[in-house]
Amino acid sequence: MMKIGILTGGGDCPGLNPVIRAVVRKGINEGYEIVGIKDGWKGLIENDTLTLNLDTVSGILPKGGTILGTSRTNPYKKEEGLQKVKENFKKLGLQALIVVGGEDTLGVASKLIKDGLTNIVGVPKTIDNDLSCTDYTFGFDTALNTAMECIDKLHTTAESHHRVIVVEVMGRHAGWLAIEAGLAGGADVILIPEIPIDVDEVCTIINKRHQRGKTFSIVVVAEGAKFKEGTFVLQEEKLDAFGHVRLGGIGETLAEQIEKHTGYETRLSVLGHIQRGGTPTAFDRILGTRFGVKAVELVKGKKFGKMVALAGNKIIDVPIEEATSVLKTVDMEFYEIAKVFFG
Ligand code: F6P
Repeated sequence: MMKIGILTGGGDCPGLNPVIRAVVRKGINEGYEIVGIKDGWKGLIENDTLTLNLDTVSGILPKGGTILGTSRTNPYKKEEGLQKVKENFKKLGLQALIVVGGEDTLGVASKLIKDGLTNIVGVPKTIDNDLSCTDYTFGFDTALNTAMECIDKLHTTAESHHRVIVVEVMGRHAGWLAIEAGLAGGADVILIPEIPIDVDEVCTIINKRHQRGKTFSIVVVAEGAKFKEGTFVLQEEKLDAFGHVRLGGIGETLAEQIEKHTGYETRLSVLGHIQRGGTPTAFDRILGTRFGVKAVELVKGKKFGKMVALAGNKIIDVPIEEATSVLKTVDMEFYEIAKVFFG
């Protein structure tokens, strides 16, 4: 029987299980055997697999996370990593590999294709929504709704206590989660990595708002946002296996600065991994399902080296290489709209 392997790599997010379920259901319908590879690239390096059948994927549609497990393992950073990946692909008797991941996991897929492991199809996942060539990645909508609900909750306590609350959201070097959560949650200032933070400007907006009678403010800041050059020094930066800095900490400095310069009592709320958890929204369940079905269709049609993607309301395929070559940052149209509601 023809075999397809599937792995989920990088940061988890809601919607991974709907993809796995769709690949298994569609794959079995098409006469394939599906092999689950545990913990992303780590499982392919170590030949650690899981049988996937109708029973193992039953009931997983509404579950957050991934039944396959995940890791941030980079085979190119492991001794003989590339060789082991190739060997195990052969040993497992795979005809194709479906790689579900973000920039890093799919970046490895793109390199592997160049290094001769060609039969790969990609599926774009990430709460950061920063992959090119797709309007949305699954996982983003759920994280966005979680962040929005948190902002709603912070509003009532900020209002009661007459405080400024700084809300730090994830998103790495793209401000999608911040801008959309801020828009949906009615934030009074939104700070994103695409635009360096000017503390004076932020304080002027807050002061003006308070002058018109408001006694509280909500400031949403993306974890990857940076102060205008030279204003402040950030905490020590630690790198992961993909060379990324571990972000976080901007909110703390920002809250201190706001309190210092405006005199208003300020608190910080860091949403963190809460944004990656929980049951996927209908949007993410459907997008993940459509992506999974399309991925199997690409394997069947031998359209390798492609990533499934959303364009408008159509599921299309694009080269993995193109999708991972540039980071998709915030469309300034969103920022201009958000600015209308600053202050
Ligand atoms: O890429 C998803 C993401 O949640 C980012 O928004 C965040 O910077 C990072 O992962 C956190 O990674 P970890 O779970 O390894 O701390």
